[in-house]
Amino acid sequence: MLQRLSLSRAARLVGAARGTLQQKIQSGELRSFDGMVSVGDLMQLFPAAQLDRDIGFERVAKIRDEAFGKRLRERLLPSQEILSQRLFEQGRELGDLRAHLQRYHAMVVELRERLRDEEEHGADGARNSAAKLGELLDRALEAVLGETEAPNELAVMDDMLRVMSAHVVVRPSRHEFFVDGADTILDAALRSGLAVNYGCSNGNCGLCKARVVSGQVQKVRPHDYVLSEAEKQQGYTLLCSHTAVGDLVIEALESAEPADIPQQQIVARIKATQALGDDLMLLHLQTPRTNRLRFLAGQNLTLTAGEASAQLPIASCPCDDRNLQFHVVRDTEDSFAQRAFGSLKTGDAVTLFGPWGDFVLRADSPRSILFIACDTGFAPIKSLLEHAMALEVSERLYLYWLATPRSGHYLANLCRSWADALDNFSYVPIAAEHGDAHEVVRRIGADHADLNAFDIYLAGPEAFIGTATTMLLERGFPKTQLSAAIL
Ligand code: FES
Repeated sequence: MLQRLSLSRAARLVGAARGTLQQKIQSGELRSFDGMVSVGDLMQLFPAAQLDRDIGFERVAKIRDEAFGKRLRERLLPSQEILSQRLFEQGRELGDLRAHLQRYHAMVVELRERLRDEEEHGADGARNSAAKLGELLDRALEAVLGETEAPNELAVMDDMLRVMSAHVVVRPSRHEFFVDGADTILDAALRSGLAVNYGCSNGNCGLCKARVVSGQVQKVRPHDYVLSEAEKQQGYTLLCSHTAVGDLVIEALESAEPADIPQQQIVARIKATQALGDDLMLLHLQTPRTNRLRFLAGQNLTLTAGEASAQLPIASCPCDDRNLQFHVVRDTEDSFAQRAFGSLKTGDAVTLFGPWGDFVLRADSPRSILFIACDTGFAPIKSLLEHAMALEVSERLYLYWLATPRSGHYLANLCRSWADALDNFSYVPIAAEHGDAHEVVRRIGADHADLNAFDIYLAGPEAFIGTATTMLLERGFPKTQLSAAIL
């Protein structure tokens, strides 16, 4: 029976965020054994998981998809071939277990016969001991064989999870993710917020090459890039063309900082525009399927349409690298904004160049995160937040959004839906006549006694950032835990 689970797998099984489990480990509610948790402890802490199978990963994934405001992804089953291979693997594990049990059974039977033999033919002292040992063995066997313990529901669910999805561990980072449905390993890694190395996502460039340390992969998309014989023998594969047959350990390059992301130029098309207010527009661009944008959450892009161009923060998550969102403010001195509010329409081409900027997530920081946005500073903050949610590394996420009447909390429903769906996320909207940072910093100070336990990300107008930064540093907040983006 399964005894220990990785945190990612445990979170999926009980339908909780990974951060929630981390929080419970820190508070002592849940024991951790070298990063693993026991099924028994989980069942005690989440008894509902036994009663309601729907609480599992499907529910959380669905909630998260809806909360992200994305088109609800069709949750495809793995292909018939992958399913049958996973079932075959489980059958083989079961066969091994059965053979193991049979060997134990034969050993116990032989032991019982020898004890009986000793009872009948052994020396006087030995007969007595053999009889006692024989009785002990009979009682123990009776107890074990008479046990009618109900099957462990979490272990059953975990077996099902292993058929529906594969668990991948990346070396050397030890990041983890799951490959669901018909996803390639690359798509699944990006969806989980990992910045693995890749280029064309189409089997041509070889940049997504990674070494399979253990486990099996299967080609699900054709690729033109040819791996050398030596690479094949060392276990290299293309993440954009393969899926995981079962659980995998891979060695893959990951981008840790903006310098790792190459500059790109891509012609995207306007997929949709939506008014977010009288003077604010959501611009949704889509890149070609075979030329997606690699970027880190919180970065900017240069957008050019005809003669007009502007540098704007990306307001969406790199986990969906084809669909890019921007919040465009009406501004008579900004040629791109004028064009966006004037003549740009669905299907028009917009050239993207970049990405730029180092306002990115410290993805491996164990601290909880405070996001502070002023007006359209929400755009890069939204990108960071969605990325943090996909990564599930932070225990708690807080969003303080100060909005002036000019923009208002233009995506308040989205923020509220995050707060409803995720128990480790809190949303605090603050309305103000002017973008004055005093109110928001005072509020944060009142809500959190120890700000040093956080990483803080600030985005908004220059005056707001200046005041907020000064106030935080004056309160002794460490500069190294503070990141800011001026819009
Ligand atoms: S990303 Fe180019 S071959 Fe995979």
